[in-house]
Amino acid sequence: MGLKRTIKVVITGGAGYIGSHVAKVLVRSGHEVIVIDNLSTSQSTNLRYGEFWPLDLAEEDRLYEFLKEREPQVVMHFAAFIVVPESVDHPLKYYYNNVGNTLRLLSAMQKANIKNFVFSSSAAVYGIPEVVPVDEEAPFNPISPYGESKAMVEKILRDMSKAGEIRYVSLRYFNVAGADPEGEIGPAYNQPTHLILRALKTAKGEYPFLEIFGTDYPTPDGTCVRDYIHVMDLAAAHLLAMDYLISGGDSQVFNCGYGRGYSVREVVAVAKVVTGVDFEVKETSRRPGDPPILIAKTDKIRTLLGFRPEFDDLSLIIKHTWEWERRLGKGGKP
Ligand SMILES: NC(=O)c1ccc[n+]([C@@H]2O[C@H](COP(=O)([O-])OP(=O)(O)OC[C@H]3O[C@@H](n4cnc5c(N)ncnc54)[C@H](O)[C@@H]3O)[C@@H](O)[C@H]2O)c1
Repeated sequence: MGLKRTIKVVITGGAGYIGSHVAKVLVRSGHEVIVIDNLSTSQSTNLRYGEFWPLDLAEEDRLYEFLKEREPQVVMHFAAFIVVPESVDHPLKYYYNNVGNTLRLLSAMQKANIKNFVFSSSAAVYGIPEVVPVDEEAPFNPISPYGESKAMVEKILRDMSKAGEIRYVSLRYFNVAGADPEGEIGPAYNQPTHLILRALKTAKGEYPFLEIFGTDYPTPDGTCVRDYIHVMDLAAAHLLAMDYLISGGDSQVFNCGYGRGYSVREVVAVAKVVTGVDFEVKETSRRPGDPPILIAKTDKIRTLLGFRPEFDDLSLIIKHTWEWERRLGKGGKP
């Protein structure tokens, strides 16, 4: 695939980790990108590609004026809060931003007559799936307000699509990791919670030890198994999703993963090899709500969108993240 003409794309949350990588891939593919972000959970350091409009999605009137004036053909919606345990402690905060502000965005899009939408969904909509690898037909069974917020938006999109109000692609990301191999952008969370980042920051000395939550899961080594996808492959999937919508494709949902998993212990072992640091690891009890195994069935995205991953290699994912972390310095900016 690959469209020849330039598409104007608005990326909400484009200052964040995934949105900034997508912005780079889209700009490099010749598209026009406008990022809107309120920098609530990110820093401006990843704002390297596309034009930037500081805006909070809660400001629906400003959002509408902006969309009406700029007339993007596609909106890609990344802006959300993403920390699962925080969503358990502060559900309203999550529903307000992830659902309420998505409604405001959809409503502003509707008034501005913009119909193509790419949504950042999550494997969290499946909760603890009964069948693994899990396919897109598996029922919604989220076990956190975060996962519920993503499932709610997907239901809203489904209804809007049935009514002809929108055409959308919902991408259900599994565990996103890695960084731009050229080192320009990378994860810059104020609150890093993902395993690979925590491990590398521990190797850097930012944390005294890495915690493994649960070693008695029904998995080969007792720790949780996850499907890690490199952020550049995920960004490429967004380009494919956009081409698909612009070419007239109907609304679809796709898993985004590689279709195989690594345990926490395996990730830790690779992180130690890549960094050359034998950092301390402490085994603690399970966290509530962690599924033992979460692996994507990926046939649909491969078949329908022609998704062909380039970075399906855990060492490479960790190496790119490590290079980025070293560039960042201790808790600092690049
Ligand atoms: N990182 C993962 O592993 C993962 C997995 C599954 C799904 N997702 C989804 O991908 C999307 C992006 O995640 P990320 O990891 O890049 O997170 P991130 O925190 O780096 O990016 C989110 C961005 O949205 C912005 N934002 C939040 N609320 C906003 C608002 N009301 N108005 C304007 N901007 C706002 C933040 O400032 C931030 O720049 C999210 O929707 C998340 O749920 C991420």
